[in-house]
Amino acid sequence: MKKDWWKDSVVYQVYPRSFQDSNGDGIGDLQGIISRLDYIKQLGADVIWICPIYPSPNVDYGYDVTDHKTVMESYGTMEDFHELLEEVHRRGLKLVMDFVLNHTSTEHAWFKEAELDKTSKYRNFYFWRPGTKHGPPTDLQSDYGQSVWQYEEHTGEYYLHMNAVKQADLNWENEDVRQAVYEMMRFWLDKGVDGLRIDQLHLISKKEYLPSYEDYVQGKAESKPFQPNGRRIHDYLTEMTEEVFSQYDVMSVGEAGTVTPEEGLTYTGTDEHELNMIFHFQHMELDQQPGKEHWDLKPLELSDLKSVLTKWQKKLENKGWNTLFWCNHDQPRIVSRFGDEGKYRKESAKMLASVLYLMKGTPYIYQGEELGMTNAPFTRIEDYKDIQTVNMYHKRVYEKGYDPKEVMTSILAKSRDHARTPMQWNDGKHAGFTDGTPWLKVNPNYTSINAAEALADPDSILSYYKKLISLRKQYADLMKGSYDLLLPDDPQLFVYIRQTDTRQLLVINNFSDKEAIFQWPDELEREMAQLLLSNYDGGREALPSIELKPFESRVYLLKRD
Ligand code: NOJ
Repeated sequence: MKKDWWKDSVVYQVYPRSFQDSNGDGIGDLQGIISRLDYIKQLGADVIWICPIYPSPNVDYGYDVTDHKTVMESYGTMEDFHELLEEVHRRGLKLVMDFVLNHTSTEHAWFKEAELDKTSKYRNFYFWRPGTKHGPPTDLQSDYGQSVWQYEEHTGEYYLHMNAVKQADLNWENEDVRQAVYEMMRFWLDKGVDGLRIDQLHLISKKEYLPSYEDYVQGKAESKPFQPNGRRIHDYLTEMTEEVFSQYDVMSVGEAGTVTPEEGLTYTGTDEHELNMIFHFQHMELDQQPGKEHWDLKPLELSDLKSVLTKWQKKLENKGWNTLFWCNHDQPRIVSRFGDEGKYRKESAKMLASVLYLMKGTPYIYQGEELGMTNAPFTRIEDYKDIQTVNMYHKRVYEKGYDPKEVMTSILAKSRDHARTPMQWNDGKHAGFTDGTPWLKVNPNYTSINAAEALADPDSILSYYKKLISLRKQYADLMKGSYDLLLPDDPQLFVYIRQTDTRQLLVINNFSDKEAIFQWPDELEREMAQLLLSNYDGGREALPSIELKPFESRVYLLKRD
C-alpha cells in the first residue's frame, strides 16, 4: 500500500458526544456512530477522526483522560470499539483516534499517586514546584482564565496545568513518561487504527526551562513564562516517529497552536520525518484583536485571510503538507463566522467550502459543516457547558466587571459549544440525535437545517460538498499541483490557480454579500475554459469580465499552452 494515502484523503471529524445517541441517555456513543457510517461514506470522506472516547470526568469533555486504554462507559465498551473499527474498514474507510498526551486528568491513577507521595515514581510524571512569596511559582495564566499553577495541599507544592485545573501537564523530560505514552499509542495502532491526531503537541516541550528552586531563591523566576514549541519538541517527535509511527502505515496529525509556517515546515517537512500534518490556527485568529483573547472580537479582513492561507500554501509547497480546515470541536461554525448565516447561508457555505478545500492539503470536514449548521442562538450562560466559556463568563462578569451583554456577544460569536450542539439529523424530536434529553441543547433551527432535508435536495450544501469532494478525486493530479494567489489586495475576491504542466484550475470566489466583478486575466486561456463547479445556476461562460453574485463561487478548468 502506498504510504501517503492521507494526501488523497478527505477526513470527517466526529465529536462522539454530539453525533448520535443510540441508547437514549442524551449522550452520543459508539453504536450511534456505527449507525451513521453510511452517511459519512456517501459524503465521500475516506477517513473518520473521532475525538477522545477514553474515560474522563468530562471537565473538558474527554480531553481530561483517566485511562488511555479503555472506552468511557457512556460511549460503550471495547467490543463496541472493535465493531466500529471493523465496520469502518468494511466500508473502505479509515479510523483516526484523538490522543491526548500533553496532560492527564488529575483523576488519572498516575496523578493520584503523584499527589500523595513525593517519593512515588509518578511524582516526576508531572511538574511540581514550591510556591513563592507571591503564591504560585510564576504568574502565567492559562486559556481557561486561571493561573497555570494549582496548589496541592498534601505535599504543599504546586502542579502545572496549561489547560483546566484538572488537566495536569505531563513531564516529557522524563523518559518514563515518554515510554508510557508510546506504549499507549501502540496499544491502539496494534488494533488496526489508521492514525492518530495528537492533542496540543506544541505544548509537550516547554520552551523556557521550568525554573528551579534556586531560581526562586535568587529572585530570577517570578514570571518566567514557558511557551509552546519548546526546545526539545523535535527530539521528542523524532523519538516518537521511531518508536511508534514508523512501525505502521498510519497517518499522524498534530494540533500545534501558535505555530508559524516556518515552524510548520519543521514539523511536517519531508526531510524531517516527523508528522504528516499539523493543525495551525493562524487563519482562526484573524477575527480577534491582536495580542488579546479570542473573545475580543474584530471583523475579518479578507486580505489577512488570503495572506495567511497563501503563506502556508507556499511555505509547505513540495516540502510539507497542509491540513485544510475551517471547523472543529473548538471553533464556532464557519458559516456564522466568515459567511452569512441568514439570507446567503447556502451560497456562503458553499463558497467557503470551495475556497478552502480546493487548496493543496488534506480537507477536514467537521460534523454538520456539510449541512451549513450555524452557531447556536443561546443567550443564557446556563445553556453553555464548555468550561472555557463558562470560566470566561464568570471571570469577566464577576471579577473584571464587564457588561454581561458584551460578554454574551463574544460567547455568541466564539463559544466552543456552537460546534458541539447535537448533530441535526432530521426535523423530528431533538433533531433525531437522541430519544432522551440531549446533554447540550439542540440548535432550534434543526427543523429546516438537517441531514434528511439536505440528502433529498440536489441543491443543498451537502450535495455541493459531495460534488466538491468528487471533483478533488477526479482531478487528483491538479490537487497535487502548485497554488498561486491572484488579486491579493482585492477586498471582495479570493481567487487562485492550481496548476500542473498541462492544466490549470481557476478558483474564483466572491467573499462578500455584494456583487463583484472579476476581470479575466489576459495570460489565462479563456475560450475553452470549462466550468466544473458553481454555487449559482446559470452564468457558465468565461467572459472577459464576470459579474459575480453575492458569495458566488466558480471553478474553471483551463488548458495550458
Ligand atoms: C485541544 C482540544 O481540541 C480542546 O478541545 C481541548 O480543550 C484542549 N486541547 C485541551 O486538551
